[in-house]
Amino acid sequence: MSNRMWGGRFASGPAEIMEEINASIDFDKRLAPQDLRGSLAHAAMLGATGILPRDDVKAIEGGLEAIRAEIETGEFKFQRALEDIHMNVEQRLHDLIGSTAGRLHTARSRNDQVATDMRLWSRDAVDRLDVQLAELQTALADRALVFAACVMPGFTHLQSAQPVTFGHHLLAYVEMLARDRGRFADARLRLNECPLGAAALAGTSFPIDRFMTATALGFDRPTANSLDSVSDRDFLIEILAAASICAMHLSRFAEEIVLWMTPQFGFVRLSDKFTTGSSIMPQKRNPDAAELVRGKAGRIFGALQALLVVMKGLPLTYSKDMQEDKEGVFDAVHSLSLCLAATAGMVRDLEPDVQAMKRWAGAGYSTATDLADWLVRALHLPFREAHHVTGRLVAMAAGRKVGLEKLSLEDMRSVEPRIGEEVFGVLGVERSVRSRTSYGGTAPANVRKQARRWLARLRKEGKAPAPPRVGDRGTQEGPNQRDADREVSLP
Ligand code: ARG
Repeated sequence: MSNRMWGGRFASGPAEIMEEINASIDFDKRLAPQDLRGSLAHAAMLGATGILPRDDVKAIEGGLEAIRAEIETGEFKFQRALEDIHMNVEQRLHDLIGSTAGRLHTARSRNDQVATDMRLWSRDAVDRLDVQLAELQTALADRALVFAACVMPGFTHLQSAQPVTFGHHLLAYVEMLARDRGRFADARLRLNECPLGAAALAGTSFPIDRFMTATALGFDRPTANSLDSVSDRDFLIEILAAASICAMHLSRFAEEIVLWMTPQFGFVRLSDKFTTGSSIMPQKRNPDAAELVRGKAGRIFGALQALLVVMKGLPLTYSKDMQEDKEGVFDAVHSLSLCLAATAGMVRDLEPDVQAMKRWAGAGYSTATDLADWLVRALHLPFREAHHVTGRLVAMAAGRKVGLEKLSLEDMRSVEPRIGEEVFGVLGVERSVRSRTSYGGTAPANVRKQARRWLARLRKEGKAPAPPRVGDRGTQEGPNQRDADREVSLP
């Protein structure tokens, strides 16, 4: 049997494999709410402009609402033979209201229909992701406030570089996520135009009102060029690009959790909620959630690459290749959403071992820069010279396998005779972080200020819950102590 919707000139139906490769219903049925919304707006506009009689519009609207109910209750029977969501809905409308159903497709095509559906879906997806991103930012900023003074090693080249605070490290991700949110918001601004009414590609001879449908669907305006309207998938590529960058950020954090959880680092502990055991090695606690967040970045990047490749050789306007946009986008958004939720869960669950972090913060001559800075400040050495003196002291300490603070004053003076007792004051990790008060630096006071600024901002957006009464957990306190129920105190 040939297709009722486009089979006028066809004598027979498609080959089995044709149906198989052609059908998108298995994955585009999730566009049903958007498709119905678009059809309702289109029908209302056809009525308002007098293109369809009011009675027809009423019948169509009734039918579409009935279909919505069927889909919501799961009664609706999606059929592969009807290819996609658009034709499944239209066929069902025909079953329900008869031939009037055929009038809904006046002045539109599946090409502008699918472009509209995908934009509506994308807009909702971006809005949901934004809420999740804000939740993760809130979780990070909450913890940053608690651990504002908890010292840990800061790394470059994954070599201990200078002491930083755990709170500062967490806030670095709050900044990254803010940029991620900016990218999604930007994509949302550009995608919020309505392609409906571009019809197949050239527009239509019917006196439609595209501004009316655009407004009804919450778009800022109709798209301006009918050819572009049906062939543009930039908006999906932008979402995938933003999702990829965000997934890359989450993956870096996940990798840090994996590292921090190794007994060799021993910086943090995750509870049973976010770890698994080994079926053969009873001693193990594996950071599977973090590994999966790290791993899922792969499929998100893959979706971006796939859609770029699908689009790159396509002449204007619509080609069926473009049906390949959906699965990647749906999967990428779903994966990112999972990663955001799992990461927020891990952040809330993370229990840092503040003693271990502090111990390692001082390892690897991490306060050498503080010593060099002191030589500049106290002895007015040019920084390059101070660097050299410090290098010699580090070499001396390394030769004896001890920390800088274990060198005697005589040892120090053998390299630079003007060094005095006060030098020992700058060799501690806590003093080191406390001294880094430059804007954006790791000093606990800065970290507290930034964490509070973020929490206030997130609350103002309405995306963070009311402030919990967090206490500050500095390095003075023992590891794994529950957040003290008191105001933050300066160390
Ligand atoms: N299922 C199609 C897609 O996702 C809808 C548009 C079909 N248009 C067409 N001219 N065959 O791209």
